[in-house]
Amino acid sequence: MKALSFPTDFVWGAATAAYQIEGAWNEDGKGESIWDRFSHTPGKVLNGDTGDVACDHYHRYRKDLRLLRDLKLRAYRFSLAWTRLLPQGSGAVNTRGLDFYDRLVDTLLEYEIEPYVTLYHWDLPQALQERGGWGNREIVSQFADYAAAAARRLGDRVKNWMTLNEPWVIAFSGHRSGEHAPGLCDEKLALQVAHHLLVAHGAATDALRANARIPRVGIVINLWPSETMHDTAEECAIAEQNWQLDNAWFLDPLWRGHYPAATWNAYGDKQPRVLPDDLTQIARPLDFWGINYYSRHVVGIEGRVPGAEYTEMGWEVHAPALERMLVRLDREYSLPPTFITENGAAFSDEYKGAGRVEDPRRTSYLYTHLEAVARAIAQGVNVRGYFVWSLLDNFEWAWGYSKRFGIVYVDYATQERVIKDSARWYAQTAAENALAPLS
Ligand code: FCB
Repeated sequence: MKALSFPTDFVWGAATAAYQIEGAWNEDGKGESIWDRFSHTPGKVLNGDTGDVACDHYHRYRKDLRLLRDLKLRAYRFSLAWTRLLPQGSGAVNTRGLDFYDRLVDTLLEYEIEPYVTLYHWDLPQALQERGGWGNREIVSQFADYAAAAARRLGDRVKNWMTLNEPWVIAFSGHRSGEHAPGLCDEKLALQVAHHLLVAHGAATDALRANARIPRVGIVINLWPSETMHDTAEECAIAEQNWQLDNAWFLDPLWRGHYPAATWNAYGDKQPRVLPDDLTQIARPLDFWGINYYSRHVVGIEGRVPGAEYTEMGWEVHAPALERMLVRLDREYSLPPTFITENGAAFSDEYKGAGRVEDPRRTSYLYTHLEAVARAIAQGVNVRGYFVWSLLDNFEWAWGYSKRFGIVYVDYATQERVIKDSARWYAQTAAENALAPLS
């Protein structure tokens, strides 16, 4: 059987985020972010882990980018730390912070790796949080100013920009469940935050286009489809309601210019305050968008799906839901080109020496999910690229260093990197533009 293959210009990459890998939390003029504050607060992160050092990527970035080069991956998705550029969130630009990203981008280009830059991967300046953060409408212009500052300095070389990573998580994990920074538990606030995020995304889109040389602008949305155990009418109705609450709440404003009506009405007095031009601003046409997919929800069962495989995060491994979702999205919305901007799995990898980490379950996860992407493409869905999460084992937010998502192992005591078997498989797949066999 011929291996499933991908379109000729398919983009193969790996992804990371600033707070999860950089460390150097207070170097070269960097300001404090809400994740610095949160992780320094006892009880918020497992084992008291912090991103103070993380993978020490701030100092080891050249070596890390050489890993990408050696794996022959031609695209790298990373995020900028807002507090390196603007330590207080707004006002004077800290050039030393920008210098770091300048060097990073130059090194990528030297290695012929295309940069894909995320502006916001969750590390809001603490100074802005003290003025209400994403709950304060002023954040819209502050975020646009930050986008403009980044584009003015890097926009002569960076073409691909993503405004936000996962607005659902920022709004709801940060402001409703409180599991993430800033650790608030207020659903009405969370809905206002979600709205401000989307408006800020639109404002930043304009700012990037005004300040970068060849801007291609997108946004990254996390999507967890809800599926059913027994396919009854009742389960289907619940699954659909979940889809509307979690996914359509972000997708409809972006691609249709309005919130989903039934969900809007159901929120009653928790509805966010929306100003007259907001929905036009949110629905700016984009050059591409990214989907982060890890797993699905299953309605109609308590606990785990019998016989299914689960990762260290407790997330079911289920690739067919990705294919079904890609086809559904394509049918329901008029979309710009799609990228899978994150997909991957945490397993309890161990380094036993000899420069090798065996992680067959991750390889198999990547195989089945890439197969799902290829099948969706074969059905006409316009998927242009795929970024594995993550290049390196890193700081997994409230889980600290206990979850390893990397295709490269990090020994946090020595900062040694070891290429895992899954990385070799992924590199071969990328080089051949077709799924490499599982050994
Ligand atoms: C996503 C985040 C990313 C990483 C993965 C596992 O929600 O965008 O930073 O933590 O989950």
